[in-house]
Amino acid sequence: MSLGELSPQSCILGTGAYAPAQVLTNADLEQRVDTSDAWIRERTGIGERRVAASDEAASDMAKVAAQRALEAAGIQATDLDMIIVGTISADMPLPACAAFLQAKLGARQVPSFDVAAACAGFVYALSIGDQFIRTGMAKHVLVVGVELLSRVLNWEDRTTCVLFGDGAGAAVLGPASGDARVLSTRLYTDASLASSLCIPAGGSKEPLTAEGIEARRDKVHMVGQDIFKVAVKNLTSASRTALDDAGLTSTDVDWVVPHQANLRIISQVSQRLEIPMDRFIINIDRYGNTSSASIPMALDEGIRDGRVKPGQTVLMCALGAGISWASALARM
Ligand code: UT7
Repeated sequence: MSLGELSPQSCILGTGAYAPAQVLTNADLEQRVDTSDAWIRERTGIGERRVAASDEAASDMAKVAAQRALEAAGIQATDLDMIIVGTISADMPLPACAAFLQAKLGARQVPSFDVAAACAGFVYALSIGDQFIRTGMAKHVLVVGVELLSRVLNWEDRTTCVLFGDGAGAAVLGPASGDARVLSTRLYTDASLASSLCIPAGGSKEPLTAEGIEARRDKVHMVGQDIFKVAVKNLTSASRTALDDAGLTSTDVDWVVPHQANLRIISQVSQRLEIPMDRFIINIDRYGNTSSASIPMALDEGIRDGRVKPGQTVLMCALGAGISWASALARM
């Protein structure tokens, strides 16, 4: 998956994002659980997050982000050859969120599937889409990260409910043009920490029971410190490998768009990569951890507000449940 001689390479033609209107502040959470604005800000960098309306599903949020990305890319939904959605909070356990998204966009009967790589889902989707374009199997691929995590959180568990938010981000990949191209992608999984971040019940191993629901085993469980330690290490090494693959170094990176799980993780990755924090695009203060949506939401923000310019080099890196992690390097 390194920069190779395969042709044509892909590039990011356009991005889009969507955040639900309802804002949930740290002060709101102080009313629900034993927490404080000071603790949440100091330990995570989060100030507020968004929560989807009761009549919104993940595919509704994905649709808006996707439509904005299609518009930015200058193509129609009917031009898409593939739809890949990174999500762990799809509309239903079956079928894929991507199937509902295909219908809502009015896309053709193209392959549409979800990738269950949690917070790394968008970078996984980007890498898969890039491979299909490189091999000539697809010309335009829609890649989406969408999460409606507010529905899978235990709102009585202060160790998780203060961290996450809802949102969607999307990118349209197309054939590389000019200098713009996806330079390299790297994907990893280490199952030894699978139980440190999971939703224990509701799958085939532990079907939902009344007792399971009562014990909130159908909600996100996380041993935060286990994940924190590996996050810094793995995000740094995956980023270095993506740079090596492309024959670049930290000094060649204009912007880092990291997964937004914790500002302290981002800060330590910044130190280890020796890329200053002012070259990181950060939105965790306003959206919390939106899992697979965090990178495309931040990337879209950076493009639309003019920070990320054509020709610049963007490094993306993410880590989440699995644990799965990934990096991608793109010239815009
Ligand atoms: O995106 C998916 C990947 N996820 C991540 O990358 C998350 C990685 N982990 C983290 O970001 C951090 O571990 C957390 C933000 C989840 C937790 O921060 P921490 O500094 O590791 O806190 P801790 O778990 O060590 O807890 C420290 C203390 C504990 O109290 P005691 O035992 O010292 O008395 C917790 O009970 O903070 C307490 N605590 C809270 N206090 C107020 C935990 N959550 C809260 C809270 N409000 N919301």
